[in-house]
Amino acid sequence: MRTTENPAVPALQVTGLTKHFRTAAGVVRAVDDVSFTVGKGEIVGLVGESGSGKSTVGRCVVMLNPPTGGSVVIDGTEVSALRRGRIRRLRTGFTMVFQDPATSLNPRMTVRDIVAEPLVIHRMGRAREHDRRVSELLDLVGLPDSTRTRFPHELSGGQRQRVSIARALIASPSLVVADEPTSALDVSIQASILNLIKDLQRDLGFACLFISHDLAAVEYVADRVLVMYLGRVVEVVGSEGLNDRAAHPYTQALVSAAPVPDPDEQRTRQRITLTGDIPSPLAPPPGCHFHLRCPVAQDVCRVRPPELLPSSEAGHLVACHLVSPGAGNRPAV
Ligand SMILES: Nc1ncnc2c1ncn2[C@@H]1O[C@H](COP(=O)(O)OP(=O)(O)O)[C@@H](O)[C@H]1O
Ligand SMILES: [Mg+2]
Repeated sequence: MRTTENPAVPALQVTGLTKHFRTAAGVVRAVDDVSFTVGKGEIVGLVGESGSGKSTVGRCVVMLNPPTGGSVVIDGTEVSALRRGRIRRLRTGFTMVFQDPATSLNPRMTVRDIVAEPLVIHRMGRAREHDRRVSELLDLVGLPDSTRTRFPHELSGGQRQRVSIARALIASPSLVVADEPTSALDVSIQASILNLIKDLQRDLGFACLFISHDLAAVEYVADRVLVMYLGRVVEVVGSEGLNDRAAHPYTQALVSAAPVPDPDEQRTRQRITLTGDIPSPLAPPPGCHFHLRCPVAQDVCRVRPPELLPSSEAGHLVACHLVSPGAGNRPAV
């Protein structure tokens, strides 16, 4: 993909993204007017409970799902306005790493062929160069070169995820969407994959949309965090000091549900417990989508959807009637 040299052009610009699925039960409003950017070389985390629309955003960004509305601009090119054939040709520039490498890797192909396949599909280089590039990538993701002759079932879950990361990076994409890349893995090896993603991003400089339901993972990996609730972004906040900066009652609830390493802090921390499940996107509630579960909801929250507005800190956006724009970052009740 033609990479725009202008650093002011973000790696990804999503504007007013909407995705509806027509089903027998009605229209599923999976994503509802979502806007955000990912700067060049930036890792942006996308967090929220299961069903909030994170994967749908990721799939729309890489055009695996065409959006119902809004635009997706990658490196200055509006991919959402292109025909399928053009998108296919640009596909080397933006790739996706999926949750479960056991199902996303072809079981009948060797690691060598899996990792090299994007180069073959896009007719980039010759077979001998492919071999060299596969060796390079296996080394980068921390696998021995002998892995090339293996089949996915011969590898552990962590090794398989390393293979899918190697495959995603082989054509030097400018944007990588990683959708719950550690959620199917053993807790004991999740950290090594998170570190691998961080290291690769720092060394190779790609931009990354890192999707996870796990706030701690997102906070660890990402520079900025987007919090989604039932199809909408409710908060955009820097990941450093997230615990203190979280302003939306939903983000605060996610923060207080996440385990803290310090037992003293754990004991003294005020906990906001989320009750009930996320409502169905078949019939989202009016007003603020979160009001049914919000501990501080007022009348206005039940009728008027809040806008995503700047808070006091640069770059901090909050969609809550109770957080006044430009003022402090706590609900005013
Ligand atoms: N292909 C589809 N057809 C119908 N509904 C879908 C489809 N994909 C996702 N959904 C629905 O959209 C909502 C958001 O799903 P998803 O984006 O997978 O959320 P998340 O990744 O945050 O768990 C869910 O209610 C899900 O059931
Ligand atoms: Mg998902």
